[in-house]
Order: sequence, then structure tokens, then C-alpha cells
Amino acid sequence: MALAIEKLHPLFVAEISGVDLTRPVDDATIEAIRAALDEHSVLVFRNQDITDAQQQAFSERFGPLERMLIGSQGGGTPFALLTNVDPETGAVIPPDDRRMIRNAGNMMWHSDSSFKAVPALASILSGREVPNEGGETEFASLRAAYDALPEAMKRRIEGLVAEHSFAYSRGLVDPTILNQEQKDEVPPVLQSLVRQNPVNGRKAIYVGSHASHIIGMPVEEGRALLRQLLEHATQDRFVYTHKWRPKDIVMWDNRAVLHRGRPWAYMKYRRVMHRTTVAGL
Ligand code: SIN
Repeated sequence: MALAIEKLHPLFVAEISGVDLTRPVDDATIEAIRAALDEHSVLVFRNQDITDAQQQAFSERFGPLERMLIGSQGGGTPFALLTNVDPETGAVIPPDDRRMIRNAGNMMWHSDSSFKAVPALASILSGREVPNEGGETEFASLRAAYDALPEAMKRRIEGLVAEHSFAYSRGLVDPTILNQEQKDEVPPVLQSLVRQNPVNGRKAIYVGSHASHIIGMPVEEGRALLRQLLEHATQDRFVYTHKWRPKDIVMWDNRAVLHRGRPWAYMKYRRVMHRTTVAGL
């Protein structure tokens, strides 16, 4: 069956139907999904009652999967567990637990793993249990934001390089949340401020919470520029808000969008999300 593609936002984001991700997916369909990702940046698949093994098998079709960092929920495995439910006890984890504080970093606008030398190409997030209200995921189109920049700003940022650091971004949430071993696991890396999609040549502003400062600029000046670009990129007109339905899967292109999780009534609703992350440039 051919894929059906329906746009959910004027600038990016499409809902894809006509594919069952719980079953082996043929090569032609994988190619069509990859092309849709290059084109629309965020893909929504509904009613996918998927297991971890099936999600991993689907994700691996797009490239090698990242292993999660030590100390994170799901650490060492290919699954980032973004959940307020303790997998051992099934009880809701209180918001002041260190696991929840560490996950709170995902509520800042970011591109997954921009702090790694090989950052994340695509992320695949499945909503296993979703709150009745709140807990949305928001996406901002870095390409639409780039296109809307004044020409002078495009010239100013072309060729600039930013340092991205996990210790920096998590330090914004709580300076004590990472120990030295966890910081040493992911030393800072350099990333171009403008990224170009190799397939369609479209440019995007590569910013987000992990971007600490700009190389060759005084730190505060670089941070002011990064803040200015982030505020520009996350204006309402560039943002799509995904209101989760149970069994939704959302796949996004980390080169082309920022995302962030939104708060919900932690102690009232369970939110269990499993993310796989495809590494690649
Ligand atoms: C993420 O940052 O990868 C997940 C965001 C969310 O929990 O909605």
C-alpha cells in the first residue's frame, strides 16, 4: 500500500498513513519515509501499537542507533526513557527525583545530541502512555527560521561555529546534576551554526540549549547572538505543537528542527515515552 502524506502545518510536519511500523517495512517504503523526512522534517504516525523490539528494528533501518548516556533513564541501551513512571515499581516518580530533574533538560529547546561529534540525525519517539492534558512536544522549523532571516544576518552567521556541551545545558537546570564521569563521557564539540541538508540543499540555523558560545567571539556576545537566533527560530509561526494520542509515533530530523517537551500534571498523569535515536550527519 502506498504511503499517504498529509501536511499538518503550512511550513513543515506531515502525518504519514498506510504503513504498519510494527511489521517489517520494505525497502521502498523506508526510502519513501526517508524522503518524507528530508522534505517535511517531522513525521507523525498514528495507531502504532509498537514494542521496544519493533521500534528498534524500524529505527535501525535509518542508520546506527545511539546508546544512551550513563546516568540517564535507559542508560547504555538504545532507548531514552522519557517517563515519570519508575520501570521497577510502576509508581509515579516525584518531580524532585534526580531522574526527573535530569529529564527536565528536555523541556528546553534542543536538537538531540548536538553535543556529540556525531549528532543525532533522526529521533523516533513513541507515546506508550500519554497524559490527557499537557505533556505535548513542540517542534520549531530551523529551516523556515533560516529562510526568514534578514540577508545581513544570514551573511553574519555563515561560517560561524558554536561549541555545544551537555554539561553546559544540564548546568542550566542544576549545576550539580552531572558528576565528573558523566561530564567526561561527552566532552564539548564544535558545530557549524548553519547546517545544510545534503539532499535538498536547504539551510537551517543549528542552535538550541546545548549551544554554549561561539568560537572566536567573547562568550557573552556569542551567547547573546545564540539567544537572538533561538528567539527568532521559536516564534509561534515556526512552531508545531504535537498533542499526543496513545500509540502515536513521531519521527523528526534533528538537523532541521528543535523540539522540547511541555509540562503536565506529573503526579496526576503517567507519561511514558520511548525514544530511539539514529546517529548521523
Ligand atoms: C525529547 O526531548 O527527546 C523528548 C521530548 C518530550 O518528552 O516530549
